[in-house]
Amino acid sequence: MNEIKEFSPMKDGLNYKYYINGKWNVSESGDVIAIYNPYSNELIGYVQGCSKKDADEVINSAKENVDCWENTPLEERVNVLRRAADLMLKWAEPIGRILMQEIGKPLKSAISEIRRTADIFYATADAGSQIVGETIMGDSFKGFTKDKISMTYRVPLGVILCIGPFNYPFNLTGSKIAPALVAGNSVIMKPPSEGAITPLYLGVILEKAGIPPGVFNIITGRGSEIGDYLTGHPKIDMISFTGSSETGRHLAKVAGMKPLLLELGGKDAAIVLDDADLELTTKAIVKGAFSFSGQRCTAVKRVLPMPRIADLLVEKVTKEVMSLSIGDPAENKVIGPLINSKRCDFVQGLIDDALSKGATLKCGNRREGNIMWPTILDNVTIDMRIAWEEPFGPVLPFIRIRSAEEAIEISNKSEYGLQGMIFTNNIDLAFNIAQELEVGTVQINGQSERGPDHFPFLGTKSSGLGTQGIKYSIEAMSRPKVVVMNLSEKGKLIHECRG
Ligand code: G3H
Repeated sequence: MNEIKEFSPMKDGLNYKYYINGKWNVSESGDVIAIYNPYSNELIGYVQGCSKKDADEVINSAKENVDCWENTPLEERVNVLRRAADLMLKWAEPIGRILMQEIGKPLKSAISEIRRTADIFYATADAGSQIVGETIMGDSFKGFTKDKISMTYRVPLGVILCIGPFNYPFNLTGSKIAPALVAGNSVIMKPPSEGAITPLYLGVILEKAGIPPGVFNIITGRGSEIGDYLTGHPKIDMISFTGSSETGRHLAKVAGMKPLLLELGGKDAAIVLDDADLELTTKAIVKGAFSFSGQRCTAVKRVLPMPRIADLLVEKVTKEVMSLSIGDPAENKVIGPLINSKRCDFVQGLIDDALSKGATLKCGNRREGNIMWPTILDNVTIDMRIAWEEPFGPVLPFIRIRSAEEAIEISNKSEYGLQGMIFTNNIDLAFNIAQELEVGTVQINGQSERGPDHFPFLGTKSSGLGTQGIKYSIEAMSRPKVVVMNLSEKGKLIHECRG
């Protein structure tokens, strides 16, 4: 890593700096936050524990540069994104390696997280260059004539605060930054405390890509110190956040009337009907539930199988899960460490609760350090916490159902509404069930997932607010500006019907 000379301004030994007005600084507080590898417990580095005073400076820098960026031709803004994407591809491997170390993501997935972000930047550049307005003639509304014409085009919101989560610290911050910038906003990025280092590289990348100083800024620090200060600050014009529903709810209270884009938790249920293709279903469920050890908002978090296939499906899924590799993310093991020991304790609590209430343990329920063995629980009932709570870890409950109606009822009783899945060969029935599910997206014969990234991505209830996805994010991060032309009587032409 140290050999790449472009990265040298952002750090001093193990001490990473924050990025303001085109410069890498240390906090005036003198506070730093240590980042440890969740697998080996080894120290990876320190990020700045910025203060409210640092936050004020960052906010002012972003605010003062909104105009310059908004007035930079769209073609140039688009080109900055394209050059940034080129650099992400060039440096995907070294940055992916840091990502693997700081959050314990398998190396291959960590590198593809950087590449996927490059793809988002290219696609956002393409979509951004297609932004168009509309013209409406007044005579389409009762009592008005063609003398009133509205012309609408899109303008930026101002300063957008982008807060990403630990599980996709590069990609899910990148997917907020690209639409914010292409729409002409200036940006303050606040990385998560765990996973804080990797997104700092976006500062180097965007600077090399030609972003003017102050248009893109990064602040690191403790949520307890600067979280509420940033979100409640009057000079922040919009917030895009991915993280837990609990934090999202709190953020919304502090933010007041600012526009929000919130991607929060989920409890995605896979409804498996009697006629499902069990090979396909098993593969989708295992991949969906256990990729990155279940630390995904879109992970499959409950399986609701019909009686005729339940026994066979549980056996097939258990067999597949028992063959998953476990261990070092550097060796691309499927199951690696959870982000910290507190998360492991929480997951263990859910397993213990289910077992104490009569669930059947099919495999797992073992822990070493921050690694939790993938766990399958059968015969889970609705009085168990695991039926409703989001583990964000490798545990999958099977709640056996007797009818599609019961599956819909259990799915919809959840406080979450991110995605739902239906596995069946009866497409008519699948569509009818899909219409009943109170979620953002229903997957038919596939696992829940966010991508492809130009699809709309949203959640209902505690799962979020607003819609993400390339063009949807650009729309959310800009607003219509309407100019109405009022034509006078002067110069009016006479048109009479001659019939
Ligand atoms: O954790 C939340 C992410 O949006 C999930 O993205 O479905 O691509 O893993 P993914």
